[in-house]
Amino acid sequence: SKELKFKNEKVLKYLPESPERKELEAELINLKNSLVDIPVIINGKEIRTGNKGQCILPHNKNKVIGEYHKAGKKEVEMAIEAALKAKANWESLHWESRVAIFMKAAELASGKWRAKLNAATMLCQGKTYKQAEIDSACELIDFMRYNASCLHQIYSEQPISSDGIWNRTEYRPLEGFIFAVSPFNFTAIGSNLVGAPVIAGNTALWKPAAVAVYSAYLVFKLFQEAGIPDGVINFIPGNSQDIGDLILTNENLSGIHFTGSTKVFQDMWRSVGTNIDKYKTFPRLVGETGGKNFVIGHASANIEALSRGLLEGAFEYQGQKCSAASRAYIASSIWTEVKENLLEKVRNVKIGDVEDFNNFMGAVIDKKAFESITSYIEFVKNSDEAEIIIGGKYDDSIGYFIEPTIVVTNNPHLRTMEEEIFGPVLTIYVYKDEDFADTLRLCDSTSKYGLTGSIFAVDRYAIAQAENELVNAAGNFYINDRPTGAVVGQQPFGGARLSGTNDKAGSKINLMRWMSIRAIKEKL
Ligand code: ALA
Repeated sequence: SKELKFKNEKVLKYLPESPERKELEAELINLKNSLVDIPVIINGKEIRTGNKGQCILPHNKNKVIGEYHKAGKKEVEMAIEAALKAKANWESLHWESRVAIFMKAAELASGKWRAKLNAATMLCQGKTYKQAEIDSACELIDFMRYNASCLHQIYSEQPISSDGIWNRTEYRPLEGFIFAVSPFNFTAIGSNLVGAPVIAGNTALWKPAAVAVYSAYLVFKLFQEAGIPDGVINFIPGNSQDIGDLILTNENLSGIHFTGSTKVFQDMWRSVGTNIDKYKTFPRLVGETGGKNFVIGHASANIEALSRGLLEGAFEYQGQKCSAASRAYIASSIWTEVKENLLEKVRNVKIGDVEDFNNFMGAVIDKKAFESITSYIEFVKNSDEAEIIIGGKYDDSIGYFIEPTIVVTNNPHLRTMEEEIFGPVLTIYVYKDEDFADTLRLCDSTSKYGLTGSIFAVDRYAIAQAENELVNAAGNFYINDRPTGAVVGQQPFGGARLSGTNDKAGSKINLMRWMSIRAIKEKL
């Protein structure tokens, strides 16, 4: 068979004076010195509604580098019509032609588009070059190529036939249109939320997060250059309040592919339930939502590995990865050493402008996030059950900067041990070595989420105990590594419990959610 072999995209290093560094620096300047005008795009046509939002830099909040037009009710109606109309041709195209478009898009993202995608992700989503490279370059490219290789495997799986009978399975797309709703924190996630249903033969409406419209627009343009036909993806930035209802009540809604907060996903699910009599099919609901990701430091842990895991897990991208480490349980016998090592690392963290390639952290995404995260810091300052051992200061005079902040508490149920903060705040609870088994149970029962988590230990029994106890506490479980940075094709990503439907992004399971199987029996 024409098997498509998958290989991960290489992460570029951006060393000073390297060609990729020069190209990225030039693109940062280019984007900063222009004001892009981003339209709604329906059936391949650009529509300027005049109801505009802005693309702002989180680290320099008065700097605007783009404006986008918001879709309203009229545009949503047009987008649904366009998606339904484009469907017939798109699904009847041989699947290899669909794959060809994604392979071409990946090729363009790997070369010509790489610097621009990374620059937009750095500037508007507040990522350092390293964080942008693993997102808007590598993960985005990997999703496209990996899905293409999975599609090939899925379609080749056929039932057995018997004497006088030929059985076959057709992996058809769903009937209707898909609504893809993407978050601000990963450009790659947006590309996959729309890409996975579309490569399987569906057509879609794509609503990117308001604060990440620029990079989403570039992804859309990338798909266009790769040859995606008009109407297959319809780009509708805007406010959910204005357009959500119209989409969720449409009889042809066939699925929602979502990443964002648990509450919004629950609201959408509720709305689908309320409108269930209206639909022609049962819409497929696939979502990746909140998390309260843990790190457990066993008494046998390697101190350096654990401290590094805490630093990177909690503070890379300002703690705004859905997978970010947010609560930790550390054995008392190693705590003094871990604390010293970790504080030293945090003291050396450079925070500031993401255009400066030396910085490890930038600003948090916007005013709303800044206010919400700092309210947790203020809560801790006023609590007599917790203390801030480093950080705790913040400043939004230029951009939305918050210091990497570590809280230590003697109350394992403190608010900051239980609630998702989505910012650079890590809360640590120190447990007695002999209470390890109880601490695993405590960790398991403390949060309603189940996205990611890590155990650091050398003792194999401790690792096995943690694996057994924390079965549903983390859809992605890490041993001796930080709980972030899942790689497509290596660690399929998604959470249990209220962290989502766990239909692993970048997997056959996810792609099959966008397929409706027809089994055909033919008597010969
Ligand atoms: N895939 C991203 C990570 O694992 C969310 O950090």
